[in-house]
Order: sequence, then C-alpha cells, then structure tokens
Amino acid sequence: MTPPAPARDRLRVAIQKSGRLAEPARDLLAAAGLTWRESRDRLFCYGESLPVDLLLVRDDDIPGLITAGVCDLGVVGRNVMQEYELGRESAGHEPVLSEWRQLGWGRCRLDIAIPEDQEWTGPAQLAGLRVATTYPRLLERWLRDQQVEAQVVPLSGSVEIAPRLGQADVVCDLVSTGGTLRANQLKPVTTLLHSEAVIAGPAAGLEDSRGELAELLLGRMDGALRLKETRLLMLRAPRAGLPEVTALLPEGGEPTVLSVDGTDEVSLQVLCHSAVSWQRLEELKRAGASHLMVLPVEGMLV
Ligand code: PRP
Ligand code: ZN
Repeated sequence: MTPPAPARDRLRVAIQKSGRLAEPARDLLAAAGLTWRESRDRLFCYGESLPVDLLLVRDDDIPGLITAGVCDLGVVGRNVMQEYELGRESAGHEPVLSEWRQLGWGRCRLDIAIPEDQEWTGPAQLAGLRVATTYPRLLERWLRDQQVEAQVVPLSGSVEIAPRLGQADVVCDLVSTGGTLRANQLKPVTTLLHSEAVIAGPAAGLEDSRGELAELLLGRMDGALRLKETRLLMLRAPRAGLPEVTALLPEGGEPTVLSVDGTDEVSLQVLCHSAVSWQRLEELKRAGASHLMVLPVEGMLV
C-alpha cells in the first residue's frame, strides 16, 4: 500500500522533459491558458496563471509518480501506461491509472519487426526466437494470447540494433514513421498495440480542490483540441447549384448562406471539425463552387 498523499491545493502535471511528447504537451497546456515559470534545473515549473505546476521527467517515470501521489496527472503514451499497469498486475496489484483523455497525437504502434530479407508467415514463426523489447510485459501478454513461446529479451533502449549485435533474432518496438526500422534493415510485420498520447490520472479520481482544478484544466484542453482541428470553409456558389455543393461539404456545422448582392450567387461559410483536403476543394470546385478558402479558427464562443 502506498501511504495517502498529503492534501495539496495545487495540481501537479507530469510531462516528458524531452522527447516526442515534450513539445506538444507544453503546447497543449499553453493553449489551455497555462503560463509558468521555470526553475533553474528546469525540472519543476511553477504555474502562474493557474495553481497548476509542471514536473518535467522521463516518460517512463510518469505512471509511478502518479501512483505515488507525487503528481496528479501526466501526459504520457498509452504504451508506457499499459506496460506499467501490466507490471502492477503481475505483482498482484489492482489497476490504479486510467486514461482521462485521448489526445489524438503522438500516435505510434508497438510492432514486431523482423529482418527485411525474411518472410513473415505469422506469429507462430516466433516460436523459440529471441525478441528484444523495452516493453516486455506487453510483449509477454501478446505472446500468451498468440500461444507462442518465444524468449523475451528486455532492453532499456536501442532495441533496433539488437539483431545486428546478435542479442536477439527479432524486435518488438515502437514505430512512428518507420524510419528507425528501415535504417536498421528491419520491417514491421504485426501490431501489438496502437498508441497515442493520453492524459493519465488516478482511476479513482482526485480529491480536494485538485479535482476541480483538473476538471477546469481538462475542459480548457478539450476546447483547445477541438479548436485546433476546426476550420472555417468559405466559398461562393451559384444559388441554383447550392444543393450539389452542400452535399459535398465536410462533416461539420450548419452552413450559413448569404446572398451576394447583384448576382445569382450565394456566399457560404461552414465550420469543419477536421482538415479540409485539396481533393475535397477540387470536388467542390467541379460542383460549381468558387472563391474557396479554408481558414484556421483562433477562438470561438457560441
Ligand atoms: C521510439 C522507438 C524508436 C523510434 C521509432 O522511441 O524506440 O527508436 O521511436 O520512431 P520512427 O518509426 O519514427 O523512426 P521514442 O522516441 O518513443 O523514445 P523512447 O522509447 O526512448 O521513449
Ligand atoms: Zn521513454
């Protein structure tokens, strides 16, 4: 049992100090209106605009810090959080963390990768092989599910060079662009987990004023995330061609249609909740639309 953490009236959020999730995590907190002062060691940032402080740490440490009550929330990859929870499970502990939000960025896969010149026939092929990984628990669970007996070789990093060093036959590693695997003459063959950045927090929720602070912060983050994906699409179309053009509009809000004085044209604007592709714009143009414009949305209050 971990001792109950002392009551705190400031919320503490752990983020990655450096690495793939570090900058987007800071951007998200800034978009939620948080400003902070960095300490000299740059490990602790004192929140100025809200009683929310940041702790800059290694991503792998984030789940443990939340469990110990040192931090309240963390921005971390699902892969790291699940590996941690599986570790607790195998030690006979109940799950403590849950995904409070899925952030939709930092997407990657945990894949099995084999040497490029080998053929892949399926998981059974891994029987008796050595698989290097920094995610031994996730790999063990998957191997169990596949009913394959392979040897898990846990490493703390540089997994992709393990086959060349003779430490392993294949690897189980994170793949984002695939560049690291290609550079090491490996190819991904099957996926164990789809991951993205999440807000991890205690499954039991937060007590005292930190619970309200977390709600406020997450509410603002939701707004910021939604806004980031929102675009305003503007175009002109002949009034007669309106049904055809409207049918091609991306999923979104109701379009506002205005008459253009002295013409048989209308001006149309609509909020879209995701990026608008070039292809979609070309389709709209073929349907009679002109003056097509896609604008980012800076702020919104409806
Ligand atoms: C992962 C993984 C690879 C790399 C793959 O490491 O271990 O090294 O990313 O990315 P790519 O497919 O775009 O080449 P990560 O940056 O997440 O660091 P960590 O695992 O050491 O935290
Ligand atoms: Zn890491």
